[in-house]
Amino acid sequence: MKIEREKYILRQLNINDADSIAKHANNINIWNNVRDYFPHPYVKQNAIDFITFVNQKESIEDFTIAVDGNAVGMVGIVPQTDVERVSAEIGYWLGEDYWNKGLMTNVVLDVVDYVFNNTPIIRLFAPVFEHNIASMRVLEKAGFQKIAVLRNAAIKNNKIIDMHYHELVK
Ligand SMILES: CC(C)(COP(=O)(O)OP(=O)(O)OC[C@H]1O[C@@H](n2cnc3c(N)ncnc32)[C@H](O)[C@@H]1OP(=O)(O)O)[C@@H](O)C(=O)NCCC(=O)NCCS
Repeated sequence: MKIEREKYILRQLNINDADSIAKHANNINIWNNVRDYFPHPYVKQNAIDFITFVNQKESIEDFTIAVDGNAVGMVGIVPQTDVERVSAEIGYWLGEDYWNKGLMTNVVLDVVDYVFNNTPIIRLFAPVFEHNIASMRVLEKAGFQKIAVLRNAAIKNNKIIDMHYHELVK
């Protein structure tokens, strides 16, 4: 999948993206809003390992957001299994230098369009930490609905938090 827009290109990651990915991912303001398996500090080897891992999957499910030729963020889906294989979680992060310019909203819209038109997946969902208003806004602008608040569903930075569960059905 490659989608070229005026402000960004959405494309498969390659190993040459590792430096730029590590530079932009190494940010506590990103880590505070993602799962704990996301490395912090985030070094070049973390990017190499991730890129190697995602590019060996049978179908490519992770893409980078390239701005001016540099990989400055990522978006990916995690298809579920068994009877839930028609659903996928969507996840994303963007380098802080690029926040609040409407980028991720457009990226999510592109991914939704791609997934619903090119895969068997008919439902996307995203659980968002209670403090992550920017991500909730992205999902809302991209057409997702908040269908539940999962109370005390996660622990981040030693604090029990709610997860705001969003979904979009094809
Ligand atoms: C969430 C994230 C991807 C958003 O990317 P982005 O390109 O800045 O998003 P957009 O510019 O498309 O939209 C952001 C919206 O949130 C709003 N916003 C940002 N911070 C806000 C805050 N503290 N309070 C209220 N609204 C806020 C912006 O104003 C904008 O809404 P608007 O268009 O109505 O003005 C980015 O902040 C990020 O990478 N965060 C860390 C990782 C993360 O949260 N990943 C998602 C985990 S669920």
